[in-house]
Amino acid sequence: RNYHFHTSLPSSNITAKELARQGAPEGTVVLTEEQTAGRGRLGRGWYSPPGLGIYMSLILRPRIPLGQTPQVTLLASVALCKALEAVTPVRPQIKWPNDILVNGKKLCGILTELNAEMEAVNYLVVGIGINLNQQPADFPGDVANVATSAAIAGGEPVDRIRFLTTLLSFFEADYDHWLQKGFSQLREEWLARAAGIGTTVRIISGKQEWLGQAEGIDTDGALLVRNEDGELQRLISGEVSLRP
Ligand code: BTN
Repeated sequence: RNYHFHTSLPSSNITAKELARQGAPEGTVVLTEEQTAGRGRLGRGWYSPPGLGIYMSLILRPRIPLGQTPQVTLLASVALCKALEAVTPVRPQIKWPNDILVNGKKLCGILTELNAEMEAVNYLVVGIGINLNQQPADFPGDVANVATSAAIAGGEPVDRIRFLTTLLSFFEADYDHWLQKGFSQLREEWLARAAGIGTTVRIISGKQEWLGQAEGIDTDGALLVRNEDGELQRLISGEVSLRP
């Protein structure tokens, strides 16, 4: 594989996008010990102190239509869960589309960015942030209420290299399977770990907020939510709160 190791970067996603623009091949991995401007979904930040977590971006070049790209993020969340299950005592859940939670607190986040031309994907950058060895005092005040780490949730420190190699091998196997056989097995694996399916959730998309019953994900990976008028809505972006 093509690895790029850094001591410090503003954001591994920014570096990976630059490399992808310059033609870096599928499977390129950008890793950094810390990020000074780590970015999350929906314009948020991602707290990335040195040494305690994993901050990584993968460059992928799948030959798929634009509409299938959300599946890659679901794939990453399944691979993350499998790696946590294999290497730590933590039993994570996935909040659609791709937050990894333990005891309702966030352990990993995924930020996928894409470049496409004419409805065809040119490259994807899958950015993954994992809180591994933070203790509660390592999180800043506003983050401490909503974040956890594998060490906090599992009660023991995690070997970062072992976790990383396990994650990459699950990701690679699942990615190959998905390219060859499609989304259906991944969908089952995702649903087996999903939080909030069958419950009332609050959907936040832009300025709109509404309550509905989360029913599952469809064969493309979109979230299916029944609104209060009984109509089934199909969501491909937005935010879901499990505390309606
Ligand atoms: C989220 O949950 O909002 C997504 C967080 C994604 C964080 C990772 S850390 C590595 C990569 N580089 C970034 O700047 N963000 C992603």
